[in-house]
Amino acid sequence: MTAEKRTFQAEVSKLLKIVANSLYSEREVFLRELISNASDACDKLRYLALTQPELTTGDGDFKIRIAADKDAKTLTLSDNGIGMTADELNDNLGTIARSGTEAFVSNLSGDEKKDSGLIGQFGVGFYSAFMIADKVEVLTRRAGESKAHLWSSDGLGEYTVADAEKANRGTIITMHLKDDALEFLEEQRLQHIVKRYSDHIPVPILFVETKDGEVEERPLNEASALWTRSKSDITTEQYGEFYKHVAHAFDEPWLTMHWKAEGVIEYSSLLYVPTQRPFDLFHPERKSRVKLYVKRVFITDDCEGLVPDYLRFLRGVIDCEDLPLNVSRELLQRNPVLQKISSAVTKRVLTELSKKAEKDPEAYAIFWDAYGPVMKEGLYSENGEHKDTLISLARFDTTESDTLVSLADYKKRMKEGQEAIYYIIGESKEALLNSPHIEGFKAKGVEVLLLSDPIDDFWIQAMFEGYEGSPLKSITRGSADLDAVKGDDDKTDEDKKDEEKASADIAPLLASIKLALGEEVKDVRESTRLTDSPVCLIADDGDMDINLERLLRQHKQIDKSNPRILEVNTKHAVIKALAKRVKDGKTGQELDDAAHLLLDQARIMEGEAIPDPKAFARRLAISMERGLTG
Ligand SMILES: Nc1ncnc2c1ncn2[C@@H]1O[C@H](COP(=O)(O)OP(=O)(O)OP(=O)(O)O)[C@@H](O)[C@H]1O
Ligand SMILES: [Mg+2]
Repeated sequence: MTAEKRTFQAEVSKLLKIVANSLYSEREVFLRELISNASDACDKLRYLALTQPELTTGDGDFKIRIAADKDAKTLTLSDNGIGMTADELNDNLGTIARSGTEAFVSNLSGDEKKDSGLIGQFGVGFYSAFMIADKVEVLTRRAGESKAHLWSSDGLGEYTVADAEKANRGTIITMHLKDDALEFLEEQRLQHIVKRYSDHIPVPILFVETKDGEVEERPLNEASALWTRSKSDITTEQYGEFYKHVAHAFDEPWLTMHWKAEGVIEYSSLLYVPTQRPFDLFHPERKSRVKLYVKRVFITDDCEGLVPDYLRFLRGVIDCEDLPLNVSRELLQRNPVLQKISSAVTKRVLTELSKKAEKDPEAYAIFWDAYGPVMKEGLYSENGEHKDTLISLARFDTTESDTLVSLADYKKRMKEGQEAIYYIIGESKEALLNSPHIEGFKAKGVEVLLLSDPIDDFWIQAMFEGYEGSPLKSITRGSADLDAVKGDDDKTDEDKKDEEKASADIAPLLASIKLALGEEVKDVRESTRLTDSPVCLIADDGDMDINLERLLRQHKQIDKSNPRILEVNTKHAVIKALAKRVKDGKTGQELDDAAHLLLDQARIMEGEAIPDPKAFARRLAISMERGLTG
């Protein structure tokens, strides 16, 4: 077959341009990327060979070989891993893989100079070979296949794939070095890079030199699985480099947890909490990417139930001695040993997080900021042994604190006479802090949790037993019960008398407003939670809370909304003036307009759309005119 010419996917061309202009200092990472690919290819075949041993018959030892040809100015990196078919060559080396590189491309600013600086930080996978080579060839043969294929490109926009010959399975990448990249033909330079970035790769990386017909192979790395080594033998850098490899990540880990569990079930774990959220954290699949190994053989990084969904940000390895090797992934996932490991690992990780939260609340706040929304899914889904620890790990913004607060902290500073833990749910902390509903609570110094993650409406429902005997109560539904709370602004008997009088005065107005608004509201009543705003809307006890209904309407899960209760602030000047008018018998259109304007105002404060903007505008204009012309 003649070489078939193909064009790179658009993103790849964009990427290659940046790669070609990459910063000099960044270039050495190409070797890390190619070695990481070769190691993954060996891992994949080692697993396949468990059920298809014929794939590795006669060549069961996986190796990565590096050879430099100073005459030809070529650097070759080869592996005896799984290899690729022609289709896989096109899919994998012509488009952007869903991986770290995708994260890189999605972070591009378009300013090539600035973007090229990202390479070292992000890594661009296979394409990083074009940082040091002006031509790259990939000769590959899929394990179990006889046909081989040659992929070739100068990285300028096109590539070719042709049939080829290759004695055995695996992949050979030949890089024709740029004139200013000949340093990468030096063994020492290569050794330095392997030690720096790839020492943890569990496959031997060998520098191959042919001298006088003699082939000599010299190891460049430790080649033992890092997690099997004792903690005291591993440096922070080595932990960091392994994190970058296993997580396809480029930041430093926020937390590194390495332990061996002996006893009934034996397994070792090296798990990381990334500092930066993994880019697929909120992908609908919600997959965890922890790699499951059995006796140092990579099995899968897609093992459902290995870690609970609410810990899916974890990256790393769990290597178990007691799981059968030659069973399908599906069977493995149902293996009771795996469930035991999952629960033990979850317990350990939550304990480590609790320690960190205790010891370093500021650092924990960074963690919670990144992963709080995911951890809170656990408050909804977890009904078992980890629930209480998860609750104790939860942190919240509140009206009374600049730093994050735990429920235990909240409980400690509840006011005398305060029964419930109060919360409000909405779009953002800022919007919630501007919500009229919190006014009365702030005035009394009663703390309110500010919840602004989509999951909040759900886990709150699952906490029907409350926290340590205190129910969780929304301040946008039902009554406020603030009178019973001994707060900062306690009323004198005088105040109370004034209030009783005000209540009497306001009753006719409330009735008139109710009449004017009809079915648009469920009720109109005096408010104890407003101090500044004239009105607000409340969901009735038993009705769906305001934010949840908004969320479900936004996602078209429901179409109509329940009528709300309009709460009125008796102390507000507008309300007092209206009450006086009603008392003076001045009802009719003016009061009707005022009632509708108050309702629309409450809707605006809710961030709700006004059902009839034209009517609103007309009423507002008339009221302003009345106000201006007295
Ligand atoms: N030596 C190899 N043997 C077999 N397949 C390979 C080899 N090198 C690359 N591939 C295939 O090409 C794909 C793209 O590699 P690339 O390095 O660009 O992305 P990635 O490894 O998937 O992720 P990352 O961007 O994090 O490196 C790989 O997913 C793999 O399927
Ligand atoms: Mg890669």
